[in-house]
Amino acid sequence: MSSLKGGVGKTTVTLGLASAAFSRGLRTLVVDFDPQSDVSTGLAVSPEGFLNVADVLESPKEKTVRAAIAHSGWNDYHEGGTIDLMVGSPSSINFDGPHPSARDIWKLEEALAIVESEYDLVLIDCAPSLNALTRTAWAASDRVLVVAEPSLFAVAATDRALRAIEEIRRGVSPRLQPLGILINRTQPQSMEHQFRIRELREMFGPLVLTPQLPERPSLQQAQGAAKPVHMWPGEPSQEMAANFDTILDRVLRSAGMDAERGTGGPTAQATTVTD
Ligand SMILES: Nc1ncnc2c1ncn2[C@@H]1O[C@H](COP(=O)(O)OP(=O)(O)OP(=O)(O)O)[C@@H](O)[C@H]1O
Ligand SMILES: [Mg+2]
Repeated sequence: MSSLKGGVGKTTVTLGLASAAFSRGLRTLVVDFDPQSDVSTGLAVSPEGFLNVADVLESPKEKTVRAAIAHSGWNDYHEGGTIDLMVGSPSSINFDGPHPSARDIWKLEEALAIVESEYDLVLIDCAPSLNALTRTAWAASDRVLVVAEPSLFAVAATDRALRAIEEIRRGVSPRLQPLGILINRTQPQSMEHQFRIRELREMFGPLVLTPQLPERPSLQQAQGAAKPVHMWPGEPSQEMAANFDTILDRVLRSAGMDAERGTGGPTAQATTVTD
């Protein structure tokens, strides 16, 4: 029924950027805004004993917010950076209706305002939907990173995502901007992929980010082992790590321009959807 299929790499990009931030010594909070909660596995967090984003959306009070934040297992690997996770929950689906109220849409922003001075960067991993949860994430964000696969429906799905972002920017949060479109899982030998990448460039111009992310099984291995890709051995992982470093630079530069406002760190967000 839905053309908004998942699986384009939002969680992978969130984990890759978290890995880049971690190896750079930044303090990062990852927010799991997908009811499927895939990102907690990759960050080596077991959610037992913690509150979660559904509790936070119910009541964005300091006590709840702090009780929903877990330390990632990554923190054992080296000192310097910090990775924390605001734990996800299947119950967050109850907050994903089609028409969020003006009050509901600010709930995550309200919650993050309590802790954001403790972090350099906040990354929000979204669900494959443009409903209330994703809009609530955007209202709390400075930038949205749209992830797309080089496939038949990529242009339409990306266009829909950009329009929805623009709608939130105009109606709700003027600081919100798309950071760009990150094309994931490219196979440079595939004519079809090259065609789709050209199509995306023609349609969205400079919003299409460089580098694109190639298909690399080592990413799945690092995720399966719950390790940061920067610490996964082998040439392909190091190439991926370098790609994520470049994208992180872009995130920090882009948000840094506005960060003169002085409050908290930039809130970047990996989101959306094509297939
Ligand atoms: N560049 C890549 N190379 C190899 N595998 C990848 C790549 N990007 C993503 N994958 C794999 O594809 C699968 C789906 O990716 P991921 O979970 O990041 O997508 P998603 O957009 O978060 O999905 P969902 O919409 O379900 O949340 C995962 O198994 C992931 O490891
Ligand atoms: Mg995901």
